[in-house]
Amino acid sequence: MRRASLSQFLIERQRSGRINADLRLLIETIARACKAISTRVNKGPLGGGHGNAGTANVQGELQKNLDLMSNEILLEANEWGGNLAALVSEEMEDVKPTPTHYPRGEYLLLFDPLDGSSNIDVNISVGTIFSVLRCPQGPDGQMRVPDEKCFLQPGREQVAAGFAVYGPTTQLVITVGDGAYGFTLDRETYTFVLTQEQIRIAEDTAEFAINASNMRRWEPPVKRYIDECLAGSDGPRGKDFNMRWVASMVADVFRVLSRGGIFLYPRDSKNKEGRLRLMYEANPMAFIVEQAGGAATDGATRILDIQPQKLHQRIAVVLGSKNEVKRVTSYHK
Ligand code: F6P
Repeated sequence: MRRASLSQFLIERQRSGRINADLRLLIETIARACKAISTRVNKGPLGGGHGNAGTANVQGELQKNLDLMSNEILLEANEWGGNLAALVSEEMEDVKPTPTHYPRGEYLLLFDPLDGSSNIDVNISVGTIFSVLRCPQGPDGQMRVPDEKCFLQPGREQVAAGFAVYGPTTQLVITVGDGAYGFTLDRETYTFVLTQEQIRIAEDTAEFAINASNMRRWEPPVKRYIDECLAGSDGPRGKDFNMRWVASMVADVFRVLSRGGIFLYPRDSKNKEGRLRLMYEANPMAFIVEQAGGAATDGATRILDIQPQKLHQRIAVVLGSKNEVKRVTSYHK
């Protein structure tokens, strides 16, 4: 069977009118950057990416060399393409409008260049997450110089989102709003090949993912949910649950997309707003998960309906198999 490449997949979507040529080129550019990052990750300690960079990002988190390299690769690939009005990254403090000597496009790009970076030095999967929004027009219908406000749109306004996992294979999952699709990087032809069509997350599951070391700080509804899972067939759920935690959201969400499950990073008494970033992690993942038939809330509200207040906002995340997410959300009510 001949499988479609990412380019063919995107051209078909352009022909059917779902995306325009600019969005197609933008996604292709991001995918190209992901291949370059994958190569860097693959080199491990030989590629200069291991170790701390000796700097901290806007949230005060220490940056790894590979965080900075991945950020540079994405910036360099995207700023001159003519598809973007501006971009912003988890690793940068401010919005970066497209330099005036390049054509300015209609889209806004947000990305987490290297998610799960605590796993870089220990040879565990890491990844890249991205989200694409339309740049709002000014009151006169003209394109305005993009600032932070332009980015503060609820996740339901995303026109595309995706993530790459750099694991034993490099996988790319994307959505342009007509389902979620998975691609595998063929290292011989250096192309992304469609390997998972119309991904569907099972509505029920017996597998959960959470950092249990935070248990003593959780809010009662989360504690109740996990206690019930741990009680297994002896408890109110009447069945045994399995637990997994990679500590790379990309890998944990990829597993949920592949075989179902629920992923939680709740707010707690230490991370009062939550740990994950709304714009760079929660929104793109929520879009993908919903497109695959799953659900995503912050415990109470659908993530895609949350109005962001600031670029680097943190949020609680509960996503995955629909019936489990519903249950956790009902415990919060
Ligand atoms: O910041 C993102 C991240 O690395 C996620 O990819 C991952 O799910 C989470 O943080 C891991 O958190 P912890 O270190 O608490 O396990």
